[in-house]
Amino acid sequence: MCGIFGYTGKKKAVPILLQGIKTLEYRGYDSAGIFVSGCAPVRAVGEVKNVEGAGGLTKCVGKAGIAHTRWATHGVPSLRNTHPHTDCEESLYIVHNGIVENYKELRERLENSGHSFKSDTDTEVLAHLVEDAFQKETNLHRALVRALKDVRGTYGIALMHKDFAREIVVARMGSPIVLGIGKGEQFVASDPSAIIRHTDTMLYLEDGETAVLSPGGYKIFSSGNKTLNRKPEKVDSDIGEIQKEGFEHFMLKEIMEAKDVFDATTRGRLDLKEGVAHLGGIKDVEEKLQNMKRLVIVGCGSAYYAGMVGKYMIEEHAGVPVDVEIASEYRYRAAPDQKDTVVLAISQSGETADTLACIKEAKRKGLLTLGIVNVVGSTIARESAAGVYNHAGPEVSVASTKAFISQLIVLVLLTLYLGRQRRMGIGEGRAIIDELMKLPSKIQRIFDGRDAIELVANKYVLNRDFLYVGRKYNFALAYEGALKLKEVSYIHAEGYGAGEMKHGPLAMIDKDFPTFAISPKDSVYEKNISNIEEIRARSGKVIALGTEGDMLLASLATDVIYVPKTIEMLSPILNVIPLQLFGYYMSVARGLNVDRPRNLAKAVTVE
Ligand code: F6R
Repeated sequence: MCGIFGYTGKKKAVPILLQGIKTLEYRGYDSAGIFVSGCAPVRAVGEVKNVEGAGGLTKCVGKAGIAHTRWATHGVPSLRNTHPHTDCEESLYIVHNGIVENYKELRERLENSGHSFKSDTDTEVLAHLVEDAFQKETNLHRALVRALKDVRGTYGIALMHKDFAREIVVARMGSPIVLGIGKGEQFVASDPSAIIRHTDTMLYLEDGETAVLSPGGYKIFSSGNKTLNRKPEKVDSDIGEIQKEGFEHFMLKEIMEAKDVFDATTRGRLDLKEGVAHLGGIKDVEEKLQNMKRLVIVGCGSAYYAGMVGKYMIEEHAGVPVDVEIASEYRYRAAPDQKDTVVLAISQSGETADTLACIKEAKRKGLLTLGIVNVVGSTIARESAAGVYNHAGPEVSVASTKAFISQLIVLVLLTLYLGRQRRMGIGEGRAIIDELMKLPSKIQRIFDGRDAIELVANKYVLNRDFLYVGRKYNFALAYEGALKLKEVSYIHAEGYGAGEMKHGPLAMIDKDFPTFAISPKDSVYEKNISNIEEIRARSGKVIALGTEGDMLLASLATDVIYVPKTIEMLSPILNVIPLQLFGYYMSVARGLNVDRPRNLAKAVTVE
């Protein structure tokens, strides 16, 4: 989390830096700050726009600087905790993304040796460590390298010193850092999307590496501080500017992009004749996948729930045993994985710290690693041995919507791929593709009926608790629906397997505790109907999500939202859309910041 941006070149740095951290605001929006050579640092609580025009920034003509947008880890969101942080002499400025895990002991040591601190952050220890190291070193880069020897934890760092006005020193350990290489100007950022408007020539730092940027060029150094000659690469310029295009919020825009996402995710990958999917990114590991005996899917939040749906798809249609694990658990568990186990990470951002750690752990064990990743060139994409890009395009709103849909679509493609390597016949493969290709028109039908979903949301806007239930393919959707509601509307919601109701949650049901029951006409339909009856018998209100034309559901439930019929395996792709829209309309009705829910950030790069 936190966004870092730096610039050194021929132009006025302030507008470039502000633009840069605005692009990175999805990573955190608790506070923002900027330091430009020759000017006083400027900091403000809240969004980047609060920094604009503050502290005489408009008069600052310096041509190099660093900026930061914060997602608070250590210390509340306040002015004193806003980056850039500085040393005792206020001669160097540092912006940091990550966590200094041993900051308490370092701070104690530094305070005992006379340093005085101005913030509650872990980052400030870095500034004081560099201050000390600078006494013993000849330049700022060497001072940073020396200082980092004491640091345990993760960091993406950009550092400047008043006496070296055009130089930016950067370092990476576990938090992404990308350099943008221009003509007479250089950039550094947490993410290429902030650089692409200036140059598509970029260089990703690896863990342990450091770099020095000046207008005329850059130098990168290995973890052993040896000069490296790595060539920059051309980055896809698709990651350009993103607009709301007439929608009130990015979340609604991104939900409404589901059909485009379908096209982009499936483009060139479906082979109806052979009943298979072609996935270029895993072609090189085809044989290893043929020999795979077990698949472990790891992810966090919505990506984890997508994995849960994937388990049902792959086990039923490809016959491969699948375990799905929350990444923050898997990474610390001594999982006795055999060599023929494959670990698949699902991540929109490709930067989620826990998911990345699972990939590293799996590699350490010698396992084949795969990624289903949306952000091209992100760390998980680069660390995985092979993988499939979602091609869902940039997702700006914090809540995952279109990315989740594309994750489900990629999992269908993977099921076809693995299935056709194994027991799936050509007829079954063709039938799945045939149904898959009908989804865009069905998605449109859901969009056409979205006003009805808004009406249902408005009816329940004062409720404070919700239960979401589902079974089989839609079991994970109960969790995903509840997550969507809680994160954007701050309403307490819990997901449950419908079959679990009698084992505890039913006790909570009364007239003020509604249940969202996902009950399409599928192989567990009758079981779901019984569960709905049990809730209704206890005066519980039920919003049922069912298949078009199901009149029984309408007679049982308090409210019904219909979706078009499809095959069981594909039903989550349709069913999730009303769940996303319901969460969205609830948030709007409650007047909340839909795209930037409190306390959250889009890329979770800390544990
Ligand atoms: C929920 C949401 C999060 C993410 C999770 C993983 O709407 O967005 O739960 O799904 O933080 O993020 P990625 O997919 O970037 O690894």
